[in-house]
Amino acid sequence: MSLPSKVALIDVGPRDGLQNEKGLVPAAVKIELVHRLQDAGLQEIEATSFVSPKWVPQMGDNAEVMTGIRRRAGVRYSVLTPNMKGLEGAMALDRAHWPHEVVVFGAASEAFSQKNINCSIAESMERFAPVVERALQAGIAVRGAMSCALGCPYEGEVPAERVNYLAGLMKQIGVQRVDLADTIGVATPLKVKRAIEATLPHFSIDQICGHFHDTYGQALANTLAALEMGVWNYQSSVAGLGGCPYAKGATGNVATEDLVYMLHGMGITTGIDLDKLIDAGQFISDFLGRPTNSRAGKALFTKRSA
Ligand code: HMG
Ligand code: MG
Repeated sequence: MSLPSKVALIDVGPRDGLQNEKGLVPAAVKIELVHRLQDAGLQEIEATSFVSPKWVPQMGDNAEVMTGIRRRAGVRYSVLTPNMKGLEGAMALDRAHWPHEVVVFGAASEAFSQKNINCSIAESMERFAPVVERALQAGIAVRGAMSCALGCPYEGEVPAERVNYLAGLMKQIGVQRVDLADTIGVATPLKVKRAIEATLPHFSIDQICGHFHDTYGQALANTLAALEMGVWNYQSSVAGLGGCPYAKGATGNVATEDLVYMLHGMGITTGIDLDKLIDAGQFISDFLGRPTNSRAGKALFTKRSA
């Protein structure tokens, strides 16, 4: 069995991780978190969303966050943009603060599409198409998140054909790579393999990113299944923060610390300094006033302080 020798990680903690926090997290804390992540060696960071602040108040400081980040050469910053208004918001900043990549986010289930972005899957594509076109014209890369590709909080089981259909739509509108998202963390490894197979007619293995929430404790097993298929791009959240406000009960993404611990243990390189990453996780957990959700982070932090 040959596995990828290196993995590229996008830390989505500042966005997916914090979007669901009840108490407002100040922009300065989000910016500090981004700085700590890039200091730890993260090469890609999902920094914020340009969504309606009425829907997701926590991301209402998107412009402040994007302008406050002290950029590090070689690091790519991405943001969520569900419509033209979102893209225009991101591009209204000075060019130096534009994202390198924007994310349009669709769903494999109709019900989740309605709850999350207030439109059908077909309507979402109509909204996304001009966003993708304008972003690409401006030299901004475009990723497409495929929510509920492995299960839906409203519809339950999501057949692989739905993933194939959504991936095809994403490809048609010009999306360059896709996130296979287990929004509610219900997937198990063979299901993940089937969803990857369903995506492959439209996107190459290099264009598929695993985005696994860890609600049922399956995210590392699911990552291993995806690694076995050759997927080498993943998203994770420092300290395992997060959850989607429109997926009740779903917890955070797999913790970046846990993923890095597993990958390094398997001899797969990530370019990340696990010690510094643990400090970043500790920083945000201390701010939020609760223990980290990362098992490896907790174990190594305890060992270090012993
Ligand atoms: P809508 O209400 O249908 O949009 O929302 P609208 O076009 O009718 O506009 C309504 C109001 O929102 C207007 O303001 C617009 O100006 C404003 P008003 O006239 O009432 O004052 N508005 C905006 N404001 C700022 N930025 C914008 C924007 N767009 C409209 N971009 C919309 C449609 C998509 C905007 C809304 O449903 C929304 O913002 N949803 C947010 C969904 C979200 O952020 N969910 C969490 C992220 S996705 C996720 O976590 C999943 C992921 O991690 C993968 C996975 O795990 O599955 C990516
Ligand atoms: Mg997510």
